[in-house]
Amino acid sequence: MPIKFPFARKLKNKDSFVQPVGLDQTQIPKHVAIIMDGNGRWAKNRGMPRIAGHKEGMGVVKKIVRFASDIGIEVLTLYAFSTENWKRPKNEVEFLMKLPVDFLNTYLPELIERNVRVQTIGDFDVLPPHTKKAVEEAIERTKNNDGLILNFALNYGSRFEMVNAVKQIVSKVESGEIAYADIDEDVFSSELYTSDLMDPDLLIRTSGEQRLSNFLLWQLAYAEFWFTEVYWPDFTENHFEKALYDYQNRKRRYGGV
Ligand code: IPE
Ligand code: IPE
Ligand code: MG
Repeated sequence: MPIKFPFARKLKNKDSFVQPVGLDQTQIPKHVAIIMDGNGRWAKNRGMPRIAGHKEGMGVVKKIVRFASDIGIEVLTLYAFSTENWKRPKNEVEFLMKLPVDFLNTYLPELIERNVRVQTIGDFDVLPPHTKKAVEEAIERTKNNDGLILNFALNYGSRFEMVNAVKQIVSKVESGEIAYADIDEDVFSSELYTSDLMDPDLLIRTSGEQRLSNFLLWQLAYAEFWFTEVYWPDFTENHFEKALYDYQNRKRRYGGV
């Protein structure tokens, strides 16, 4: 069921984009991170296999990327596969590893046309070759674009990321590249996958779960969180607008007054 919010949708297509009424153009979050959850339950509720939910969810990614790029978000980080998702049945993992290939096969031209730059965070090396190939091609072909950064968290785990950062820092200290006394938050951040990105301003999680599931534990320290019961395949631009609207009505204090 669509949720009600105090402004009308004006987004019809990319050529007739009008800023949604009620959103403050000067307060669009720069970096939005989304935990796209609930694909499996969406499918199960329809008597379909879980992978049908993932397929449907891919269509939603396209819509949401268009919306984010239209509205002027700078970075959209999408949690596509966690380091824990390998625990799933083999056929589901295989399907999830094929999804980026299908997504980019059908959508890369539009991403290029929209000036979107594709990036990833996560342990890329161990992904299957076909997944790596499709994603590497997208990264390469969009590397000079300076519009929306579409950042896929693929085989991403925040604890793994942080342990790796610690290892990197220790090895730099051992080799004398940096001094122990110089280790600070900036040094730590610079060893994370997200070193070239600002921290997320807004985290959205669909499906009713209210947890981080090992997503951006360091980077979300001062993000605003927004949860919805809606399963990812049912998530629309309207929900996204509502999240942005709520975000704009929060007061971020960062520990101050
Ligand atoms: C999110 O949907 C997609 C991935 C984790 C890859 P789920 O597959 O987790 O769907 P639910 O949470 O089981 O419904
Ligand atoms: C988080 O969702 C990972 C992604 C959305 C890719 P999960 O469905 O894997 O998280 P848990 O298991 O419910 O915590
Ligand atoms: Mg889930």
